[in-house]
Amino acid sequence: MTRASLDKQPHEVASMFDDVAEKYDLTNDVLSLGQDRRWRKEVAKAVDARPAQKILDLAAGTATSSQPFAQAGAYVVPCDFSLGMLRVGKRNHPHMPFTAGDATKLPFKDDTFDAVTISFGLRNVQQTDQALRELYRVTKPGGRVVICEFSHPTWAPFRTVYTEYLMRALPPVARAVSSNPDAYVYLAESIRDWPDQPALAAKLQKAGWGKVAWRNLSGGIVTLHRGFKAS
Ligand SMILES: C[S@@+](CC[C@H](N)C(=O)[O-])C[C@H]1O[C@@H](n2cnc3c(N)ncnc32)[C@H](O)[C@@H]1O
Repeated sequence: MTRASLDKQPHEVASMFDDVAEKYDLTNDVLSLGQDRRWRKEVAKAVDARPAQKILDLAAGTATSSQPFAQAGAYVVPCDFSLGMLRVGKRNHPHMPFTAGDATKLPFKDDTFDAVTISFGLRNVQQTDQALRELYRVTKPGGRVVICEFSHPTWAPFRTVYTEYLMRALPPVARAVSSNPDAYVYLAESIRDWPDQPALAAKLQKAGWGKVAWRNLSGGIVTLHRGFKAS
């Protein structure tokens, strides 16, 4: 079983997700106490997919994160570099155009998508800035990005409790439900190490995105960042 470390070597990250693929969606539901469903609804509202729009769901994994856009009538491309995750996704959603691709070198032409989005994926990409530039490149002028990622709770006492929960409770619970519990040690470590809300907003701006803003969900456990490509 593979567990990535904080240097996020791409082959280790991909292989870690290959290992958790079969039980990925169940484990998510259990560990987030069902909150993931609410977060996904908020992502859907923020992306605001419309019929016939082209949406890129990057780091889509099994394409659970892609479903709300497809249900809104958009043409959604789920893209990921873990073939294990893509395989489980294709089995569950055979009609979706699953695409193997690395976030830092996307297999799409410039100005292709009306909206690009990434849920719980950017934190795992070794070269965050390069991924944000790639997302920008493949977005049409006037298009939008929505990033859903774990972040830093804003209320300090809650932040302390949350960090304790993450570091102590997550791996034992994961041991009961996941096929690769060590992956959830990495999850806790990578969340603690991730830039806070203003720092991620600054990265988006540096990659070219305009009108950057963010909204905290569940007190900042998760944050939605959005930005636009100039028309
Ligand atoms: C936590 S899962 C999220 C899956 C899905 N978006 C969701 O919300 O359930 C993270 C995904 O990011 C993918 N990933 C990580 N680094 C990547 C990269 N450089 N390029 C493409 N996919 C990547 C992993 O393979 C994994 O499937």
